[in-house]
Amino acid sequence: MLPLVPRPASIRTRGGAPFAIVPGTVVLAPAAAAGPAEVVARVLGEAAGFVVPVQRAPDEGSRHGAGTPRPAVVLTLGGEQPGVAPDRAREGYRLTADAAGVHLTSPTVDGLHRAAATLRQLLETRATSTIIPDVQIDDIPRYAWRGLSVDVARHFLTAADLESVIELLAAYKLNVLHVHLTDDQGWRLDLPSRPELVARSSAGAVGGDPGGAYSVADWARLVRHAAARGVTVVPEIDVPGHVNAALHAVPALNPDGVAPEVYQGTAVGFSSLRRDVPETVPFLADVFADLAAMTPGRYLHLGGDEAHHTPPDEYVRLVGAAVQAVRAAGREVVGWQEIAAAPLPEGTVVQLWDTRADPAPVVAAARAGARVLLSPADRVYLDMAYRPGHPLGLDWAGCIELHDAYAWDPATTVPGLDPAAVIGVEAAIWTETLRTRDDVMAMLLPRLAAVAEVAWSSSGDWESFRERVAPHAASWDRAGLAWYPSPQVSWRR
Ligand code: ACM
Repeated sequence: MLPLVPRPASIRTRGGAPFAIVPGTVVLAPAAAAGPAEVVARVLGEAAGFVVPVQRAPDEGSRHGAGTPRPAVVLTLGGEQPGVAPDRAREGYRLTADAAGVHLTSPTVDGLHRAAATLRQLLETRATSTIIPDVQIDDIPRYAWRGLSVDVARHFLTAADLESVIELLAAYKLNVLHVHLTDDQGWRLDLPSRPELVARSSAGAVGGDPGGAYSVADWARLVRHAAARGVTVVPEIDVPGHVNAALHAVPALNPDGVAPEVYQGTAVGFSSLRRDVPETVPFLADVFADLAAMTPGRYLHLGGDEAHHTPPDEYVRLVGAAVQAVRAAGREVVGWQEIAAAPLPEGTVVQLWDTRADPAPVVAAARAGARVLLSPADRVYLDMAYRPGHPLGLDWAGCIELHDAYAWDPATTVPGLDPAAVIGVEAAIWTETLRTRDDVMAMLLPRLAAVAEVAWSSSGDWESFRERVAPHAASWDRAGLAWYPSPQVSWRR
């Protein structure tokens, strides 16, 4: 069994001679596919132990090279799949390998990144060579949005830490990094129009731990790093609750003009913006305009969760103001499920998370034209402990072992929700108890691989997944990633 996670839609192993990576092997790609070609060349070079160069593919119609043909891994843009929904078809790809060559084909650069992730998992290191088996793979995602939300507010992760997370997303064909940038405990992104936010509210973190923030340059680098791997960054500014850091940094956001103290605890739902404070609407306009100017992509996330100290009518008006700010910045809205209480523009993405709450408002929002992003806390909140007594994580949504993260179907998990309204699946990791990159990785791995398979193929074949994921431990070890040796898998290292 090939150790592919997530499982591709179709695999034909043909038993012929494999492709061997040898000195002289090249990656051939048109200029438009230079990004994934660089990724492929790096991966092949690392596995083989010598440099594999990228060469510009010859023009359509001309013969490949004048001299001796060299062993090549060829990337091609094309191969549209008529009749498949465009938001899924764009990441579909075909990968064929035999002794004569390897071909990766997709209609888009993002699809070539997914093919590159498959190619990486196909590499086999033999005694004297690195090979790719004789295989044809045809693959397409089940869901267009496959993400991970990372809380950098409760504890800060450096830009380098987030780059490691992006590598992991790309390896498992996840295509969205959602960054929860602000909360009661800290404001983690410098915004040019409001420099006081990080100046006053980024130094600390939960429990008095050190904080931090991304500069404009850090953020630009991060967004580029993600784009170079086919990953989109969706930044979140959480309003109207979870705003103590903003209220602390900007006294004028408070009705009495008096800023509250820094907060380093883990309670939720105690802070709120106020619609009747004159500074509130200009503040929302500034932060979402800056965020849009600094971040490519269709979506901005406005939070909206757990505003327990915002009266319901006030909540609707404040979410409305935030929606307007996002739209004025030219972007579409994502928000946690509570925003379903407010009027929302067509196509808004409502992110379901709270498995304790009645999903009826989310179902109703979907009927009215919203798309639903599924982050059911009892399946994909990867800050939940693996088992009772686990040294890291919380357990308010239950403990989540690997099987729990794997064995669920996005199409049927929310009673009454039209499966066609589901845009995708997003795992989340909140950092109240997670202080380091290793803490975060050990909660993500191996469960993120399970969620990635749910989002990409929902194959639902646990026994097969357990087998396929087992050798991934060796790649996590090689990459220096902390992971949890779930007793549900016979890991191969
Ligand atoms: C959330 O977990 N408060 C979205």
